[in-house]
Amino acid sequence: MAFASYQKIQRVMIEPTSRCHLACPMCARTAKGTTRKDLVLRELSKEDLEHIFETSFVNQLRQVQLNGNFGEPVASSQTLWFCEYLKKRKVPAIEVFTSGSLRTPDWWRELGGLLNQNNDLVRFSIYGLEDTNGIYRVNSNFEKIIDNAKTFIKAGGVAQWEFIVFDHNQHQIEKARDLARSLGFSGFAVKRSRRNKDNLKYKLTQTVNSNTRFADEEKYHRKYKNWSEYLKITPITCKYVDLSKIFIDFFGDLWPCTWFGFTPLAEPSSAFRSQTESLYQKYGRGFNSVLKNSLPEVLEHPWFNEELEDSWKAPGHRQCKRFDICSQLCGDAYEHTSGPGKNYKVERFNVPSSKK
Ligand SMILES: C[S@@+](CC[C@H](N)C(=O)[O-])C[C@H]1O[C@@H](n2cnc3c(N)ncnc32)[C@H](O)[C@@H]1O
Ligand code: SF4
Repeated sequence: MAFASYQKIQRVMIEPTSRCHLACPMCARTAKGTTRKDLVLRELSKEDLEHIFETSFVNQLRQVQLNGNFGEPVASSQTLWFCEYLKKRKVPAIEVFTSGSLRTPDWWRELGGLLNQNNDLVRFSIYGLEDTNGIYRVNSNFEKIIDNAKTFIKAGGVAQWEFIVFDHNQHQIEKARDLARSLGFSGFAVKRSRRNKDNLKYKLTQTVNSNTRFADEEKYHRKYKNWSEYLKITPITCKYVDLSKIFIDFFGDLWPCTWFGFTPLAEPSSAFRSQTESLYQKYGRGFNSVLKNSLPEVLEHPWFNEELEDSWKAPGHRQCKRFDICSQLCGDAYEHTSGPGKNYKVERFNVPSSKK
């Protein structure tokens, strides 16, 4: 059975660039406080984006998100043009994920004029206030972020403040929420990151603030002996299949989801990396390029068409050949993602009727 048929795709997450000016310590692009040496810095060109989002494909889409694992969408020279391109083709929902501290007021004003419908959203990921955001968002400029957000909102743009809780900012959740409301953000989301589990400086001590205890780990402890058993036997329910969604990275390679898109650059010694390397050995690099091939052609590839879905089958099934990334992200008892789900709580504010 196919992972997704071309005609049924409704949502795309695209990573317009691998460039970013921040050095968030737990970001996949950062090593030893700076950009990884092995990260290729590039962006998808206008021609690339036109090739992928050809008119008949765009017409069937319900949502396009600009995000990814390695870059800052606002750093791409094509982002304004691309949002306008999607708007002209009437994509009902366009979302941009950003740290918020790049670009000029004019740029943000223009974006605000484009992303002004209720289903559009710029997710400003601001993890604290003036004295704390920069502890994790290294190289960011809080004052500039707030100015950019204000300009965007004043121009009509719909914005949400997204706040990952750490020990160093959890006392500021209420203040940040009040500030978000007063600045005209349409909502405020509190997120719990699973990445800070073992990191001493950027940890979240779950007992300190009950607001941050979202994920329910009881089921995991009741049902499974340990983590490696969990990866081997948990039932897998693909989150992206359920949403009819795909992910395209900054090389123009198609992946079944954003998390899978991280695996080619995961720790070289990790199972994530070696499992994806085996795919490359079998099919060659570029087997999933939607720039060298068309999107329908890549979706017809045996890996997307058959093997990926087979890999999720129950252990013992002869076609079950699991990827650890699928067990980790889409297993039944552990919520890894800090996006919408158990590690994410959003409060929506009353927004002006013009944006409804
Ligand atoms: C690599 S970022 C790309 C978008 C943009 N550059 C940004 O930083 O918001 C992808 C997502 O990861 C989130 N993120 C950053 N650090 C994180 C962490 N430690 N745990 C969970 N999510 C994190 C960001 O807020 C963003 O939503
Ligand atoms: S991690 Fe695997 S199962 Fe989960 S959304 Fe991605 S492809 Fe689907």
